[in-house]
Amino acid sequence: MSQPHRHIHPTFDQLLGRAEKEDLLNQNAKVLWFTGLSGSGKTTLAAALESELHDRGFLTQVLDGDNVRSGINSNLGFSEEDRAENIRRIAEVARLFLDCGVITLCCFISPTRAMREQARAIIGPADFVEVFVNTPLEECERRDVKGLYAKARAGQIKGFTGIDAPFEAPEAPQVEIRTQGQALPDSTRQLLQRVLPLVDRPVTLD
Ligand code: ADX
Repeated sequence: MSQPHRHIHPTFDQLLGRAEKEDLLNQNAKVLWFTGLSGSGKTTLAAALESELHDRGFLTQVLDGDNVRSGINSNLGFSEEDRAENIRRIAEVARLFLDCGVITLCCFISPTRAMREQARAIIGPADFVEVFVNTPLEECERRDVKGLYAKARAGQIKGFTGIDAPFEAPEAPQVEIRTQGQALPDSTRQLLQRVLPLVDRPVTLD
C-alpha cells in the first residue's frame, strides 16, 4: 500500500497562530454551519448576517454551493458519497479560515447527521455552531426559487433532497431559525443576537 503522507512534514509550529490573528482582527473566530433544505434560505440569511457583522467591523467569509461546487468541488455530484466528500472538503476549508481568525459562514444542505458530525469533528466542537434554517418542505417547494423542486417532482432530477433523498433535521442545533412567516430582517436580528456574543470581544481599557 502506498503511504501518501510519508514525506509530508507539517510546519505549523513555525507559523503565526490563530490567537495572534484573532487579536489583530479583534474577534473570536467561529464556523457558523447553516443546514437546511434547498431553498430554505441558508445563503440569504448568511449574506444578511455577514452584512450586519461587516458593518460592526468583523471579518467574515461565506462558503456556499456557488463558490464551492463550481470550484474546488466541481468534480462532485449529489450521491450520498459525493455529498459526504463535499461536506468533508468544505469543513477542511472552513478550518483554514478559522485558523486565520475569520468568522466563516458555511451554507450547505449537509443532509445527514453523520455529515454534520464529521464537519463538527474536523472543525472542532468548540468552534462549530450549528444553525438550523428550519423551513418546511412545502414552503421551500412553494418558493422554488431555482425551479428544481418542480423538476424533481417531474422526475427530471433524481435524488433531490426532501423529495427522494433524505434530510435529517438536527436534533439539538445551537441556533434554529424558522423562516416561514418571518421577514428576513427579523430572522437576521434573531441570528445576530445569538452570534454576536460568540464572536465579540469585550472592550479593554489599557
Ligand atoms: S449537499 O447535500 O452536498 O450539502 P449543497 O448544499 O452542496 O448540497 O448543494 C445543494 C444545491 O445544489 C441545491 O440548493 C440545489 O440548487 C442544487 N442541487 C442539484 N441537485 C441536487 C439534488 N439532487 N439534491 C439537492 N440539491 C441539489
